[in-house]
Amino acid sequence: MGRTIGIFDSGVGGLSVLHHIRAILPDANLIYVADSGHVPYGDKSPAYIEARSLALTRFLLSQGAEAIVIACNTATAAAAHTLRVKFGKLPIVAMEPAVKPAVAATRSGVVGVLATVGTLESARFAALLEKYAGKVKIVTQGCPGLVDVVERGDLHSTEARRLIERYTEPLLKQNADTLILGCTHYPFLAPLIRDVVGEGIALVDTGAAVARELKRRVDVELPSRAIAGVTGTEIFFTSGDAEQATKIMSLLWGVAVEVKPLPQEFI
Ligand code: DGL
Repeated sequence: MGRTIGIFDSGVGGLSVLHHIRAILPDANLIYVADSGHVPYGDKSPAYIEARSLALTRFLLSQGAEAIVIACNTATAAAAHTLRVKFGKLPIVAMEPAVKPAVAATRSGVVGVLATVGTLESARFAALLEKYAGKVKIVTQGCPGLVDVVERGDLHSTEARRLIERYTEPLLKQNADTLILGCTHYPFLAPLIRDVVGEGIALVDTGAAVARELKRRVDVELPSRAIAGVTGTEIFFTSGDAEQATKIMSLLWGVAVEVKPLPQEFI
C-alpha cells in the first residue's frame, strides 16, 4: 500500500500542483477535491474559506488521507494556520506566492505578483514580503475573473487574453521582468500569459517546490510501504457539478478521469 495524500483547492487550479506531486511521488495514492461549488475563494472572507478548508480536510481524512496539501494560495493565507493547530501531527503542506525565487531571479529589480485579492490582502502575504523582498520592488495585481476562465476550461479565448492583458500591463509598465503566478489556477494560463508578455519576462510559481516539500515531509513522517514499480491511484471529487468537472478536469489532467460528487455533509 502506497501513502495516501489528500489535496484540495477552491476548484480545478490545484491540478497544476497535482501534476508535480504525481511526478515526484509515483507510488502515492492521491485524492483530489475541487471545491468548485464554492469557487472563487478570492473574493470570500477568511472565515468562509477557513470553514471550507476544515470541511475538505475532514473529508480527505475520512477517505484515508495521511497528509494534506493545500493546493491553493488563498486557502493557505486564510486557513493553513488553523488547520495546523487543529490537526496537530498531520503533515500539512501549504503554498504561497513564489516571492523568494522571484526576488532572486529579477534583473530589473521589480517583481510583479498576479494573485487573488484574498491572497494579496492577507497578513501572511505581507509577512512574506517583509521576509523576502529586501531591496526588490514588489508590484501586485489582483485578478478577478481569471480563476473563472480556468474553471470553464477556457485557456485560449479572447476573453482570457483580454483579462491577462489588463492584469499584466500595469506590472510591465512598472518595469517588472519577473511575474509570480500566485494562484494555482494561473499555471494553466501560462502559455497564453507567455504569448501576451513575450519571451523576456520570467514566469514563476511554486507547484514544483510544494511537491518537493511534500516528498521531503512524507519520506520522513510516512515512510513508504510501497512495492517498487507499483503506481499510485488518483481519485477526484468536486463540490460542484460532477459532469462539468469530469469534462474540465479530464482536460486539465490530460487523461480522462471520472469526478465524483462530494458527499452532501461536506458541501
Ligand atoms: N487556486 C486558488 C489560489 O491558489 C484559489 C483561487 C480562487 O478560488 O479565487 O489562490
